[in-house]
Amino acid sequence: MALVAIDAENPEPEIIARAADLLRRGQLVAFPTETVYGLGANALNATAVARIFAAKARPAWNPVIAHVSTIADARALTASWPAIADLLATAFWPGPLTLVLPKRDIVPDIVSAGLPAVALRVPSHAVARALIAAAGFPIAAPSANRFTELSPTTAAHVEASLGNRVDMILNGGSADVGIESTVVDLTSDQPVILRPGVISRDMIARVVGVPVGMASDRQPEHGPRLSPGMMDRHYAPRADVWLFDAPDVRALRQSLAQRESRAGDGGIAAMVLDWSLALPEQVRVIPMPNNPSAYARALYATLHDLDASGSAIVAIERPPFTDAWAGIHDRLSRAAH
Ligand code: TXA
Ligand code: MG
Repeated sequence: MALVAIDAENPEPEIIARAADLLRRGQLVAFPTETVYGLGANALNATAVARIFAAKARPAWNPVIAHVSTIADARALTASWPAIADLLATAFWPGPLTLVLPKRDIVPDIVSAGLPAVALRVPSHAVARALIAAAGFPIAAPSANRFTELSPTTAAHVEASLGNRVDMILNGGSADVGIESTVVDLTSDQPVILRPGVISRDMIARVVGVPVGMASDRQPEHGPRLSPGMMDRHYAPRADVWLFDAPDVRALRQSLAQRESRAGDGGIAAMVLDWSLALPEQVRVIPMPNNPSAYARALYATLHDLDASGSAIVAIERPPFTDAWAGIHDRLSRAAH
């Protein structure tokens, strides 16, 4: 595996050419996007995409996103393109939004996990854009981590998770958005958010002018998943994650005191918004930014760091329950599940 530094704003053409050549030959290249690092393969080559599933140990029922350069390139992979897709693509592409639309036959079934729809995204990161352009085909790319592990926001995270299972890692520094794209299903009459992200439900509703559903509100307790990739436990660090509300800090202190006496614990950390919370002295307090985009940027990096330092318990103060924090809430509850 080659770990190659690349300029995040003006990617060196010769490095991009090398990476595109690997993709052309059916190999795997991890690359930065504005959300998290992706594990890329030629989306039109089923054998190459199968290597993504093998490297991640990703179950075959979990479809991957195809990354393209333009709205026209996205359309070319779809069997229908409703007006609402145009509105959303024009408003938010390039950027952290993924649209799920009926697929054309040229998209191999393995990309959509056998579903009749494909997930499409036009990323804004200069390295991702240059790579897609140089390749000349759509790039299938899930987050570049082993299945159910934390998503990577740096090349070092990718290396730690996938190592030699990937042929090349492009190191373009830290991902700016920090959590995965918002995924919106446009295959039925009403748009439905399958995975919340920094592009929020309100932002989407303002653009489309119709009510926007949330798959999490509709998911029956039993029965098939509305969104195949949304396992309850996902995006999870190795530490035990406890969520708490600031007013319940006393109860948290008691629970921590009970756990603390156990031998072998690798330490307790608390990620807090209210920096003045009274926590036991031995708790490592990590102040988190009190704004959703800065919080999203820091979230996975903080959890990766805590895992690396062997934390046994991470207590996380719940952010406010507003639309802008919905993507963060989603990742926190999955990490804690
Ligand atoms: O920000 C992102 O979206 C990152 C970067 C690399 O682009 N990618 C990413 O991919 O997070 P992944 O595979 O980790 O998550 C893709 C999500 C999963 O929840 C998957 O189930 C859903 O999108 N998805 C993909 N194709 C779908 C489809 N055809 N129908 C419904 N959901 C789909
Ligand atoms: Mg993922």
